[in-house]
Amino acid sequence: MSTVVLDKVSKVYPGGFLAVDRLSLRAEKGELLVLLGPSGCGKSTLLRMIAGLEEITSGDLWLDGELANHLAPRERDVAMVFQNGALYPHRTVRGNLSFPLEIAKADPLLVKERVVELAKALHIEETLDRRPGTLSGGQQQRVAMGRAIMRQPSLFLMDEPLSNLDAGMRTELRMEISQLVRALGVTTIYVTHDQVEALTLADRVAIMNRGVLQDIGTPAQVYNDPATAFTAAFLNSQQLNLLSPEVRTPQNEYVLLDFGMQRLILPWSDPRAYAVSKYTGGHIIVGIRPDGLKPVPESYEGPSFYGRVRTLEYHGHEWMAYLEAGLPAVPVPQPPDPRHAAANGHAGKGAWKFMRRLFPGRTAEPPPEQHSDSQGLHRRADLIVRLGSQPVWRVGENAKVGVDLSRLLLFTMDGSRVDPPRR
Ligand SMILES: Nc1ncnc2c1ncn2[C@@H]1O[C@H](COP(=O)(O)OP(=O)(O)OP(=O)(O)O)[C@@H](O)[C@H]1O
Ligand SMILES: [Mg+2]
Repeated sequence: MSTVVLDKVSKVYPGGFLAVDRLSLRAEKGELLVLLGPSGCGKSTLLRMIAGLEEITSGDLWLDGELANHLAPRERDVAMVFQNGALYPHRTVRGNLSFPLEIAKADPLLVKERVVELAKALHIEETLDRRPGTLSGGQQQRVAMGRAIMRQPSLFLMDEPLSNLDAGMRTELRMEISQLVRALGVTTIYVTHDQVEALTLADRVAIMNRGVLQDIGTPAQVYNDPATAFTAAFLNSQQLNLLSPEVRTPQNEYVLLDFGMQRLILPWSDPRAYAVSKYTGGHIIVGIRPDGLKPVPESYEGPSFYGRVRTLEYHGHEWMAYLEAGLPAVPVPQPPDPRHAAANGHAGKGAWKFMRRLFPGRTAEPPPEQHSDSQGLHRRADLIVRLGSQPVWRVGENAKVGVDLSRLLLFTMDGSRVDPPRR
């Protein structure tokens, strides 16, 4: 079972595109490490460099203490599972599963036994004599997984193996993958852009954006104590409230987060107050998850916001409320992207023009550009509050929202943490 160490690994594609930027991380023996990030952030590129399918432009890859940059794929003892299983179409399921062992010239009796055993574990025994073309997507992925397991590699690399399946099948297979790779004890690096999949599967999650590692930690660490605003927002299935108050320290009595019409007070006893006070006179970003806010009665005297209920949204297991509260909001800060510097500016407008030409008269005006000062402070977005199983409020009503100060996530305007994560 391999340890995997990436040391400042970069990938520049021909043409100069920087897909992975000086990324360092370590996967321990037997660990299930999930690589999470939006489409195009470089996850597959990183995985393919570990597999040896893509050349490493700079930096080092160590597999089990051995420098592996120049090892051929088959010398790396890895098995990869892709989004589309890529099975041998003319072999039966049995033939696909046994192939790695036949190549290794294993005892045919043993092979037969192992294939049946594995097929049972993967719930595909009844498909053993069928060809891949006659299987459902879920069954094909199970066979692909089975074939990778058959090879008994030191390292599994899985690239969105479940993304073509429906939600129910994904949940089911996710649990099976988790149990299987843990039972086998094989180090596994698993790529996904689905945050629920990442949090439920991983021993640790590594979050990437634009080729850069944003954060790495256990699911609870990266969720509760994210290193960057990007991580906090990406790991939230509902929208994260990102507000931008001015920091003040009136008469040095406490730290005041001034949201214009509304304010929150951080007493000096708050462990983060001192770190925040360094931004006095400037702005920071406060991230609040919808479940860090709760409806409170008018008489409530703790930290709170006011707002008018604009919309109530039913999600089945919970209600969400959208409040107009006049709070200054900011979008998720993105690191500068040197990769698109030339192309970026007018891409959006170009798309609108194209749509207008395709559908004259049917395309609305492009949305007005958001005018904001350099810090993006003029935006006003709704405050999103999780209500639980009862709607509690009515639309149009004025509402008071209690704020759990301990759950405020505090970031600088460029999205890094004001107070270092407690890891
Ligand atoms: N062979 C290539 N040549 C040039 N650019 C490439 C090449 N392969 C990938 N890229 C670019 O590198 C970036 C990262 O691609 P990659 O496939 O690693 O992203 P990803 O995170 O796996 O995305 P997804 O979730 O959509 O699969 C993308 O912008 C992609 O267009
Ligand atoms: Mg990919």
